[in-house]
Amino acid sequence: MVDYMDKVTASAPGKIILFGEHSVVYGKPAIAASIDTRTFIEAERLEEDRIKIEANDIKVPGLTLSFKEDQIFMEADYGKAAEILGYVKKAVDLVLKETDVDTGISLSISSDIPVGAGLGSSAAVANATIASVSELLGINLTNREIGELGHETELSVQGNSSGIDPMVQAIGGLIYYKDGNFKQIPFRKLPIVLGYTGSKGNTGKLVEEVKKRLEEDPEVMEPIVKSMGNLVDQSRESLEGKFDSEKLGRLMNINHGLLSALGVSTKELSDLVYATRTAGALGSKLTGAGGGGCMYAYCPGRCDEVSTAIEVAGGTPISTKIAKEGVRIEKRE
Ligand code: MEV
Repeated sequence: MVDYMDKVTASAPGKIILFGEHSVVYGKPAIAASIDTRTFIEAERLEEDRIKIEANDIKVPGLTLSFKEDQIFMEADYGKAAEILGYVKKAVDLVLKETDVDTGISLSISSDIPVGAGLGSSAAVANATIASVSELLGINLTNREIGELGHETELSVQGNSSGIDPMVQAIGGLIYYKDGNFKQIPFRKLPIVLGYTGSKGNTGKLVEEVKKRLEEDPEVMEPIVKSMGNLVDQSRESLEGKFDSEKLGRLMNINHGLLSALGVSTKELSDLVYATRTAGALGSKLTGAGGGGCMYAYCPGRCDEVSTAIEVAGGTPISTKIAKEGVRIEKRE
């Protein structure tokens, strides 16, 4: 007899793409890392046959409070919050397909990953849902299988996706990813600071726009995507072989230039990128889908100066660490 739990809490980390976003959608390699900011999902069995989702604490940027006399007005981007719930629902459906167990489920989300900042908030929610619900129902999944189901969730909610986000966020650490396959790169503590522009990008839409530009001008755009793939392989050599921080920084700068040529950078992102280089970062680039969201600066010995430069240039510095751990079960009750 299968021994069911009553309640399970799982968590999943956010991510940054170090090199190769967008070109990874076209079968080129990319390098990504999980970070030490996480999403937590508590899944509980319900007597009634329904799925109940409670978002207790999700960081939706753009929450505005305004005061007038003794009244408080609150505005938030509920569209983005509702989008996150779409990932939860799809992830639950995928897990339920794996079992005959007939039960209602209540899910409660709390997340420290800002939504729409390019730090993998959707994949974290999908992965943590899959991990908590499968554990609750006695289904054994490896982290890789969780990442694969996370990818299926992404494909159904957001459309085109390479699968790199759910996979690195399931496995954890530094990964080299290509066409659904990945290899873990020996872990390195790269000193980075993130700069958040305060606006958000829509991954599905940005991926579609890049596809359109490739179709419009293939002779010009295809070599850019190819070059992005080449620079990822060079970066991997630099990370795995004889560590070369100067070269790594140079490749980040080139990658940002090529992403701008694909049309996914914004003035706000590039302002932060150039400000951090002036402040002594060895390299800096946008990270994730672009169109807003975050950039990162690689800044050995200069992270304080770089954080200040991000603030002065109008962004919000987020200090984070590349973390080793992927999805994990936090509590079984
Ligand atoms: C988003 O974090 C990375 C993109 O390359 C999309 C994808 O790989 O699915 C823009």
